[in-house]
Amino acid sequence: MRASLLIISALKFVRKLSRTWWQGLFIIAAVAAASVLTLISLRDFQREGVPPENRPIQSQIAGYVSSNACRACHPGNYASWHASFHRTMTHVATPQSLPPDMDKLELAFNGREYKAERRGDKFFFSMRSEGGSYGEPQQVVLVTGSHNLQILWLETGEGRTLQQFPFGYIVAEKMWAPVSETFLLPPNAKEYYSTGAWNGACMDCHVTQGQSRFVSGFKWDSQVAEFGIACEACHSEGREHIERNRNPFRRFKIHLTTKSDPTVTNPASLKGPEAGLACGQCHSVWAFNVQRHDGQDRFQPARCCFSSRCWRSLATFRGSTQRAGSL
Ligand code: HEC
Ligand code: HEC
Ligand code: HEC
Ligand code: HEC
Repeated sequence: MRASLLIISALKFVRKLSRTWWQGLFIIAAVAAASVLTLISLRDFQREGVPPENRPIQSQIAGYVSSNACRACHPGNYASWHASFHRTMTHVATPQSLPPDMDKLELAFNGREYKAERRGDKFFFSMRSEGGSYGEPQQVVLVTGSHNLQILWLETGEGRTLQQFPFGYIVAEKMWAPVSETFLLPPNAKEYYSTGAWNGACMDCHVTQGQSRFVSGFKWDSQVAEFGIACEACHSEGREHIERNRNPFRRFKIHLTTKSDPTVTNPASLKGPEAGLACGQCHSVWAFNVQRHDGQDRFQPARCCFSSRCWRSLATFRGSTQRAGSL
């Protein structure tokens, strides 16, 4: 009897011991995994912590959180956006985002010759006047477009200011053509787009919440919330929306009452003409309203700076400017 009791308590002890042992092992494994993950994310953070200085960068723009932050709660919207050309609008130049076969590319136009060179995953172009010798190679740092036409951007040595490469790549035809032959330009303009065009103009419609940040002379320090045309380009900044919806009670309340959520812009519930400008901020012809524009204001659907731009219908483009709202 006593012996069997002893065996039972010994067994209990072993079971208890083994449970604590397993628990201990589990805790050690969890701590190790967490430290590895922390190390990895710290390394990523540190890698991102030194952004390149020769091109525009994605950075923290007040209130903007980027599309990754929307994904968990709106997987369907995320998936349909992810499959769109809006997402792939602007890319950092990599072998994947650049047109194919650029390693040995040589092009000539308007009395100048251009020669590409690959170093690891980076591409460079050197230029010379016909018969002269090649100048310093300039790195290709950014790409506009992935759909019909791709435009390449070169570093300039002037901070984040970009210079347009004078050829575009026509995706369907798999061929390079001078930009003056692919962009609609006045017939006598040979090279209309020059240094700084991306920072001063293209970024207004080709990224999410781009900020030009003019420094001086030809120098810009341009930064954007996201290189693609992402959620917050059409829905305005999302930080407050996400912070408030972390609260599950709020989430369910809005979800069940089908009430509109005022912390985010839904273009479907805007009134015209502001509704049209959720898309028309890019898909239309406009100019800054010089009386209202202070150089810093950036359009945000239903949030900001509606009156700092003049929208013009094509019919009135040649005539006098019309204030926003009188489309
Ligand atoms: C007013 C807004 C606006 C500005 C400014 C603007 N674009 Fe665009 N761009 C658009 C829109 C909208 C489209 C899409 C047109 C379409 O597909 O019907 C487009 C399309 C393009 C495409 C084709 C993209 C692809 O994937 O095929 C390229 C390349 C391009 N733009 C380059 C530029 C460059 C270079 C500049 C500056 C010199 C510029 N854009 C300035 C609005 C703009
Ligand atoms: C090019 C502009 C644009 C982009 C980019 C965009 N949306 Fe939308 N979104 C809209 C418009 C317009 C509506 C309203 C559609 C309607 O109901 O008519 C909408 C509606 C929604 C709604 C309301 C519910 C629904 O499905 O109608 C959610 C949620 C939403 N978008 C989330 C997102 C998220 C998340 C992203 C990024 C991953 C995103 N959207 C990117 C334009 C955009
Ligand atoms: C923590 C969860 C969460 C995250 C993250 C989140 N949302 Fe939402 N969002 C909600 C909830 C909850 C609603 C209420 C409607 C519903 O559940 O259908 C909502 C509604 C919306 C609507 C419709 C608003 C209306 O009143 O019609 C849009 C547009 C939207 N979200 C865009 C975004 C965008 C853009 C992001 C990223 C910047 C984002 N959401 C991130 C939870 C979230
Ligand atoms: C931040 C600027 C911006 C906003 C806002 C925007 N777009 Fe675009 N859109 C573009 C640019 C630039 C392209 C060219 C992308 C490409 O083709 O690679 C484009 C492409 C498109 C295309 C593809 C055209 C084609 O040739 O296949 C459609 C359709 C479109 N947009 C519709 C919309 C609608 C609808 C909205 C509003 C709900 C909207 N866009 C809001 C800039 C914008």
